[in-house]
Amino acid sequence: MSGDAGAGSALSRAELLREMRLGPLWRLRAPAPAAAATAAAQPALAEPEPDARCQASGDRPAATAAAARAPLAERAAAIATLDWPQLRQGVAACRACGLCAERRQAVLGVGEINADWLFIGEGPGAEEDARGEPFVGPAGKLLDAMLAAIDLRRDKDVYIANTVKCRPPGNRTPELAEMSACAPFLQRQIALIQPRVIVLLGRAAANSVLGEAGSLASLRGKSFVYPGSAIPVVVSYHPAYLLRTLHDKAKAWEDLCRARALWRAASAAATPPR
Ligand code: URA
Repeated sequence: MSGDAGAGSALSRAELLREMRLGPLWRLRAPAPAAAATAAAQPALAEPEPDARCQASGDRPAATAAAARAPLAERAAAIATLDWPQLRQGVAACRACGLCAERRQAVLGVGEINADWLFIGEGPGAEEDARGEPFVGPAGKLLDAMLAAIDLRRDKDVYIANTVKCRPPGNRTPELAEMSACAPFLQRQIALIQPRVIVLLGRAAANSVLGEAGSLASLRGKSFVYPGSAIPVVVSYHPAYLLRTLHDKAKAWEDLCRARALWRAASAAATPPR
């Protein structure tokens, strides 16, 4: 589609906005979660102690119950063996950090589990916590519009996940220990999906997934791969931030075009093609 011209070419602001389909969905002005894109830079992640408020309990299938009880390295190793149903059960039963105390439900992710594209946000907000699906509030509507701008649909072409599966109270940015406690679940999702490109939405996701400290501005535009793999990673703005900051939508469009170029290159190199 015509969007290819966006990255690196001199489109006018009006052309960029048209390319990004800045129709009603792109004009949302709902209050954004306070946490997005404003967190302080965070150092590389370390495994947390399990949260004493939320220890594992209840009747669960053996694989997920074992995962919740085990010491941290063993817990991560156990999570790394889970299939999708076990992963869903494991996340729903997780008590590894304090976020479990106030969640209505854990939010694993949504989309096509064999997708080429993986988008990773920060954590569920109030609407996501209520509905059990990531990015269903105002930021999610913008994300859907961004996906549509490059011919992607959330139910068919992408998988959408978060760095933490439980809502941080007040939609605050998840803490380092919370993201670290949840990391084995996201790592397992990535291992199962095997995406061809990963897009990290906002600083929390970038810091957590890449293990790179730094501001969004310092990470955006750089080339990364998902640690331990050749999967290209693009760091971009969180949609909640874009709802507040119109002028950075043009940069988000550049990021999407770069991600699409990386996806095309990965698809061309892959054998057999999917
Ligand atoms: N913001 C996120 O980072 N994730 C969601 O699921 C919703 C809002």
